[in-house]
Amino acid sequence: MRFGILFGPPGIGKGTIGKVLSEKWNYPIISTGDVLRDSVKEATDIGKKAEIYMKKGELVPDEIVFEALKEKIGQQNSKPGILIDGFPRNINQAIMLDRIFKNDDKIVVLNFVASDSVVIERLSLRRICKNCGAIYHLKNIPPKKEGECDVCGGELIQRDDDKPHVIARRLEVFRNETKPLLEYYSKKYKVITVDASDNLEKIIKKVEEHKLWE
Ligand code: AP5
Repeated sequence: MRFGILFGPPGIGKGTIGKVLSEKWNYPIISTGDVLRDSVKEATDIGKKAEIYMKKGELVPDEIVFEALKEKIGQQNSKPGILIDGFPRNINQAIMLDRIFKNDDKIVVLNFVASDSVVIERLSLRRICKNCGAIYHLKNIPPKKEGECDVCGGELIQRDDDKPHVIARRLEVFRNETKPLLEYYSKKYKVITVDASDNLEKIIKKVEEHKLWE
């Protein structure tokens, strides 16, 4: 099985890029953020716990997120590849994920980079569909009709954690807890670094220029 780990700070575009790659390659994408947001929406036990952390921009406890991820990966047995967005976020999660991988699995880390100003602008102007979760940007990737999702017609809203003080905390958590993982991964797996400040088309082209799985 091929695993592509989408890595990078909040708002760099992992979900947006992941959706395009998932459709092009026919690899399902598992986003731990989406899984947790669904649980919050459905007010499950996990959702109620997770919401407390997500609202503040903190990481949800590792075991909660890992159990949810493991279940999703288990449902994709028949696929040739899987993209993972939002996991791991710290060394402990990386070790948990390593235990899932089998000897013949091929793992590539796609490390997206851009300046803080680019990601803050992307997060501030992001809108998502309340219904299907489709991602827009008011300036860069706007919906055809203001406030309405192109895919399902649902209402577009701002994520609770896209408020300035929560954005600042999420970036801090990324710098302190998640970014150090790059060193861990560069010793273990292939890490491809891609400048994500370009437009989406150029980013996808840059990703595909690499011989990812060889
Ligand atoms: P999560 O949902 O994973 O959020 P994140 O990592 O902070 O990433 P985002 O979803 O904010 O951004 P993105 O990189 O996907 O960017 P997007 O494509 O939307 O996590 C949320 C929370 O859940 C965490 O804070 C934590 O509490 C919890 N959580 C999740 N996983 C966890 C874990 N493993 N452990 C513990 N807790 C966990 O794009 C952003 C904007 O930019 C959009 O408006 C988009 O339209 C626009 N855009 C994208 N690409 C481009 C481009 N190339 N050009 C112009 N605009 C672009």
